[in-house]
Amino acid sequence: MGVDRTRLGSVLQSEQERFAREHPGSRARFEEARGSLLGGVPMTWMAKWAGGHPLFAARAGGAWIEDVDGHRYVDFALGDTGAMAGHSPPPVVDAVARRLGELGGATVMLPTEDAAWVGGELARRFGMALWSFALTATDANRWALRLCRAVTRRPYVLVFSHCYHGTVDETFVTLDGGGRPRSRAGNVGPAVDPTVTTRVCEFNDLEAVERLLADEQVACVLTEPALTNIGIVLPEEGFLDGVRAACERTGTLLICDETHTLSAGPGGCTAAWGLQPDLVTIGKAIAGGLPIGAYGVSAEVAARIDGLEDADLVDVGGVGGTLAGNALSLAAARATLSEVLTADAFAGMTALCDRFVAGVRGALADHDVPWSIVQLGARAELAFAPDPPRDGGASAALHDTELEDALHLFLLNRGVLITPFHNMALMSPATTEADVDRHNDVFADLLGALLR
Ligand SMILES: Cc1ncc(COP(=O)(O)O)c(C=O)c1O
Repeated sequence: MGVDRTRLGSVLQSEQERFAREHPGSRARFEEARGSLLGGVPMTWMAKWAGGHPLFAARAGGAWIEDVDGHRYVDFALGDTGAMAGHSPPPVVDAVARRLGELGGATVMLPTEDAAWVGGELARRFGMALWSFALTATDANRWALRLCRAVTRRPYVLVFSHCYHGTVDETFVTLDGGGRPRSRAGNVGPAVDPTVTTRVCEFNDLEAVERLLADEQVACVLTEPALTNIGIVLPEEGFLDGVRAACERTGTLLICDETHTLSAGPGGCTAAWGLQPDLVTIGKAIAGGLPIGAYGVSAEVAARIDGLEDADLVDVGGVGGTLAGNALSLAAARATLSEVLTADAFAGMTALCDRFVAGVRGALADHDVPWSIVQLGARAELAFAPDPPRDGGASAALHDTELEDALHLFLLNRGVLITPFHNMALMSPATTEADVDRHNDVFADLLGALLR
């Protein structure tokens, strides 16, 4: 990757020292929280910050966050997409205040008018006829998988190696070095070996997809239109069409998980690329940061669900959650979709991401560093290789903990946050050109520091 390791080690060490010096408040709160929280954080993944402990947030708004030590950051992590609409967008604040305060009732276990409006808007954007709600994208995926198995009466799911669709048991499977399926490294307490429930191959390997679907035992393919959780891996020309055709030939359902690929536009990649899935799953951003998930089904799948005589869909049959579809989430979703994550907003976010990517490419060229950056609408991801990887395995092989830690900390110490899980930056409607330029200047400085 063209960077001297000794130089990298000393950059990382000085950034770690600076982080420790400048964040005593976060450090103290983290130490205190270790007395009552697993790993010292409210959710164990929040421990994943390059400085050894997370920043503690004091306030946030638009595209910025302020920590308890008084530092202000431009936020390109945006809650790993949960805050893609920006932090506390005013229409969402108003809708939530009205629902919770003036009208009253966050969870009344009765439908409100907002739900059908949101279903209609998602149908308009993604082309799926009918929608149902969850509280997370994980649950949307879990319930979509159950429905696919129920209507096809087939046992298997097909996913791509190094995919991530939330903590969904069936998806925790990867290919090992020899191309054999295996439980994903680190899989915590699986109920069954996921190779029993799931077939797996590499993204962009159409021949493997066709082979794994051929015996007509797979209920559905669950995929993002582009992988986004192992860096961004874009589909090659013809791959998604080929997957669609293979599904058609074999009676397999196709689920597009648009939770992250919503960055491609108001209807995600499904609309931007004219895809024709049978189901769409989504979550995170569509309620402006409040918990929500959703799955949409085609009219044909809806009819098949209707015809399921032996499936308990209204009580304890395995699809549903008490707070799913609650009035507060749906009020927030209506405000987000009608006033914040609009088509105009996506145009602006994508233009900002173009600027971000151009700045990064310019800095890489100026410093003669052989890395690449991949863009998917409002989202961009740096890869430590001259050509972007074409599948999850190749992308995983580029992972470089020391380099990522140095990148994240160097940016953080200069007021810029990118997602702690990889090298992703996302634009929100509140992000500005000045925010993007701030990142690009600091990024160029980092390259200078690494190569000095
Ligand atoms: C593509 C995709 N689907 C689903 C999920 C799960 O979302 P959540 O953790 O909000 O349930 C994620 C989370 O990162 C995701 O990236």
